[in-house]
Amino acid sequence: MNNIVKIFDTTLRDGEQSPGATMTSAEKLELARNLSRLGVDVIEAGFPAASPDDLEAVKRIAQEVGNYEVNGHTPVICGLARTSKKDIDAAWEGVQLAARPRIHTFIATSDIHMQYKLKMSRDEVMQKTYEMVSYAHSLCEDIEFSPEDAGRSEPEFLYQVLGEAIRAGATTLNIPDTVGYTTPEEFGALIRGIITHTPGVENCTVSVHCHDDLGLATANTLAGILAGARQAEVTINGIGERAGNTSLEEVVMALNTRHPIFGLETHIDTTQIMRLSRMVSNYTGIVVQPNKAIVGANAFAHEAGIHQDGLLKHQQTYEIMRPESVGLNQSQMVLGKHSGRHAFKNRMLELGYNLTEEESEQLFNRFKNLADKKKTITNADLEALVSDELYQPREIFAIDGLQVACGTMGMPTATVRLRGPQGEIFTKAAIGTGPVDAAYKAIDAITQSPNQLLEFTVHAITEGIDALGEVTVRIEQIDSSHTKTTQTEREMRRTFGGYGADTDIIVASAKAYLAAVNKMLVANEALQAAANTHQQTAPQSA
Ligand code: KIV
Ligand code: ZN
Repeated sequence: MNNIVKIFDTTLRDGEQSPGATMTSAEKLELARNLSRLGVDVIEAGFPAASPDDLEAVKRIAQEVGNYEVNGHTPVICGLARTSKKDIDAAWEGVQLAARPRIHTFIATSDIHMQYKLKMSRDEVMQKTYEMVSYAHSLCEDIEFSPEDAGRSEPEFLYQVLGEAIRAGATTLNIPDTVGYTTPEEFGALIRGIITHTPGVENCTVSVHCHDDLGLATANTLAGILAGARQAEVTINGIGERAGNTSLEEVVMALNTRHPIFGLETHIDTTQIMRLSRMVSNYTGIVVQPNKAIVGANAFAHEAGIHQDGLLKHQQTYEIMRPESVGLNQSQMVLGKHSGRHAFKNRMLELGYNLTEEESEQLFNRFKNLADKKKTITNADLEALVSDELYQPREIFAIDGLQVACGTMGMPTATVRLRGPQGEIFTKAAIGTGPVDAAYKAIDAITQSPNQLLEFTVHAITEGIDALGEVTVRIEQIDSSHTKTTQTEREMRRTFGGYGADTDIIVASAKAYLAAVNKMLVANEALQAAANTHQQTAPQSA
């Protein structure tokens, strides 16, 4: 049996289904580029039938990342589709321009999903699987099939459905534990059963896709791999529906660190893991918990005296992995105030940012401003500048000025000046419980977009008094109209993440908040446009 585990990254699809994780298409493209540099074998770029925006993002990734070789390897670009012609056509439209396109189609196979959600019998599901996998295969060579909720499906029935998918042309069989219900023993046994009993499985790759509802996603994925699966579906930081998906960094580092147990390899360059983790956190606004394995801020921090003493005597007393192996503690001092455009551009290239002239110039100016305030600029600072400067959502409102007064002597007050969509200038002042609250109130008074602040996180990127501060926020829209349809209401309650970086923490906070508000306004525009189109095309009642 082959000893490579293919890493299938679904951060851009299942990961983006996390509440509030919506990314702009520029962010998605940049993330896909960096996933390719990380060495993932397959990038699930999106669900093209979900919206025109998703389709466009998948197309761009297919064209720009799916035709670009990095370290002798071009990733497969995959689009998700339900087992319907419309979805499969959209997925094919999305991925067809990639050098190595894949369509991933799925249908539920658990009794509970078939009876209540699909209202289909087992025979109908088998027939649909054969028909739609055949159809997808008539368009695209490389077909992946998933029996959704496989973890709760009857194994004998699964063997039959998977057999139909293989007969119709599927070459990757992905086994999802959709609701994160199974235990490692059960999931391993399920994979072993599939490999033993499914007709034609010997010519296919068996894949595992686990959710973390019971905190078992990584354990289940590893059990599946031990049972013979050779593709793992994962996301960076484990983001995804509900409790999330299996995290890429955990699976890859488990396979590396416990190599004698698994005897398996991946194509991942593990030294890029921290960068990707920060990038995903910045773009989605989803903060990584400090004690998260591998990428949490405390994952390599040693507090107890006994541990510190042990470490100083021998690193392996308390560290099973070297921080450098995931990209921590690498030489950070890169540029300073006297660095020129050339050095700057080279450094950005080394960090994986292939900037246009215009972007490079825009960023270089920001870098110079920062270098005036801060002696040394690290890689993490540069990455923060990229997120803050280039990958912000479309700006409906932009900050034109901000001033705060705070302290113990009076009421915290903020005056905010924003540039509106037509270039008009709005100025408002507000009082708050602190300067950030006051600034947010002033922004609310201008943007008139009611929301609730769910999360606010601030942290210094580097040490020292001159550190660049990063702020991540998550907001939830408050719908005051009461006239929406159920579907729209649900969408209206979506959450939005925002990110901002600056040496002034209040400015970073205002930027992060405005970025989230802008994302919300853009999403509302899109919803409104979709509702208008629907009204125009819906048959009129007499
Ligand atoms: O969790 C799941 O079942 C999925 C499928 C679409 C593979 O994400
Ligand atoms: Zn999933």
